Amino acid sequence: MLYIGVDLGTSAVKLLLMQGDGKIVNVVSREYPISFPHPGWSEQKPEDWWAQTLGGLKELTKDCDKESIKGISFGGQMHGLVVLDENDQVIRPAILWNDGRTGHETDYLNNVIGKEHLSEFTANIAFAGFTAPKLLWMKKNEPENFDRIQKIMLPKDYIAYMLSGVHCTDVSDASGMLLFDVKNKCWSKDMLEICSVKESQMAKVYESFEVVGTIRPEIAKDLGFSLDVKIIAGAGDNAAAAIGTGTVGDGRCNISLGTSGTIFISSKTFCVDDQNALHAFAHADGYYHLMGCMLSAASCNKWWMEDIIGTNDYGKEQAAIEKLGENHVFFLPYLMGERSPHNNPDARGMFIGMTMDTTRADMTQAVLEGVAFGIRDSFEVAKSQGIRINSTKICGGGAKSPLWKKIMANVLGIDVEVIESEEGPGYGGAILAAVGCGEYQSVEEAADRLVKVIDVIHPEPALVEKYEKKYQYFKKLYPTVKALWPEK
Ligand code: XUL
Repeated sequence: MLYIGVDLGTSAVKLLLMQGDGKIVNVVSREYPISFPHPGWSEQKPEDWWAQTLGGLKELTKDCDKESIKGISFGGQMHGLVVLDENDQVIRPAILWNDGRTGHETDYLNNVIGKEHLSEFTANIAFAGFTAPKLLWMKKNEPENFDRIQKIMLPKDYIAYMLSGVHCTDVSDASGMLLFDVKNKCWSKDMLEICSVKESQMAKVYESFEVVGTIRPEIAKDLGFSLDVKIIAGAGDNAAAAIGTGTVGDGRCNISLGTSGTIFISSKTFCVDDQNALHAFAHADGYYHLMGCMLSAASCNKWWMEDIIGTNDYGKEQAAIEKLGENHVFFLPYLMGERSPHNNPDARGMFIGMTMDTTRADMTQAVLEGVAFGIRDSFEVAKSQGIRINSTKICGGGAKSPLWKKIMANVLGIDVEVIESEEGPGYGGAILAAVGCGEYQSVEEAADRLVKVIDVIHPEPALVEKYEKKYQYFKKLYPTVKALWPEK
C-alpha cells in the first residue's frame, strides 16, 4: 500500500510518497510565490497551491504502481483565511499566518471582548495571524467581499476540497482560527457571532486521522489513481510535523525550524497556560498540545544569507563560525513582527552590539542564535507552567544545519534528537493517511513504530553556562526597544 502526505508550506508544497511500513519512496517539491502587498502583509493565491499540488502529485507518482495508492492526507500552513463564493471561486488571495494587518481587530478582540472571554470560548487569545481577526478586518475593509462569502476554509482544506469536494477541516487546524472551542472540539457559537459568521459557512470538523471522503472521479482520472483513494482530514503543519517526528501522547516536544519557528509540546490532557502566551490547540493524535510560534525562523537565515550577504552556500558561511557562546552581536528575529510570546505585529528585526572587529561570521552566528533565543522565550513559558522537558525532536529546513542543532541544544540545555526523516509535516501527513486507511490502529501506534531517532545532540555544561548569560542579555533587548515600534 502507498500513502501520500501533502505538506502545503509557505514557500512550497512538498509531497511525500510512503509505503505502509513507513519507507519513503519519493519526495517532490514545487514552489509558489508569496506577495507582501504592504509592509507586514502576506498573501498567496489558493489557485497557485492547487496547480502546484496537482502537478506535484503527477510527478510524485509517475513511476509507482498507482493502484497501490490508498490515501492522501495533509499538513498545511495554519491560520490562513481562504474564502469562496457561491460558485466555489476564491474571492480574494488568502491572508496568511504571518500577516500582521489585523492589529486593530486583535486589540478589539483582546481588550474589548476581553482575553478572559476569548480564552473561555476558545482556550486562546487573539494574535494578528489568527483567522478570526482577519474576518473582522475583511468585514470592515472589504465589505463587498465579506458579503459574498459562502465557505470559509484553511489552506490545506482548500486542497482537500479540490480533491474530494468535501468542505472539511480537522481539529488541530481549526484550533488556530480563534473560532473553535478547543476543549470541546466544536465551533464556538459566541465567536461565530462576534465575527458575524454563520455555522453553515464553516467546514465540518474531523479528527486529523478521519476519512472525509474519496477522490473526485475526474481528478482520479487525471492522476491515473483508482476511484477509491481516500482523502483523510490531515492537520495543521505543526501537528502534522509532530506526528512525523513521533511527538505524540504525553509530554513530548518538537521544534520546527521552517519559515516559522515553533516549539510544540504534546499532552494527553487539555491544558492552557495562565497567560495564554502559548497556543492551546487540539493535536492530530486525538489529544492536545501547547505551542509557541515565532513568525520568522529559518526565514531569518534565508533572508540574511540570500537577500543580504548574497550567497546560497549556507555550509561555507556556518563553517566560519568558531566560538559559540561568546558572540557580542545579537539579532532580534522579528522580521514579520512576533507572535509568541510578545504578540506584537509591529516588532521589527534588529542587530545590536556590533564593534569595528565584528565579522560577517559573527552576524551569521547572531541570526542563528537569535532564533534559538526566541524559541527559548516560549520554552521558558512552558517551564513556568511546571512542564518539564528533557529532550526535543527537531525538523524543518533549519534542522539540516548541524551547527544550528548544537546551538539549540545548548541554548535550551536539553537533548536534541535527530530523526531519520526531516520531512516532518509531509511524513506526518502520510502517517495520518495510513491510519485513516486502517494500516495502523492509532496515530500513536503508527508514530511510535515508524519514527526512528538516529542521533542525539547533548548539551555541554560549559556551553550551556555561557549561553545562559547570553540569553539573560537577549531577554532584556525586546523590552528595551519595543517602544520604537510602530515607527511614528
Ligand atoms: C503556527 C503558525 C506557523 C504556520 C507555518 O501557529 O502560524 O507555524 O503554521 O506554516
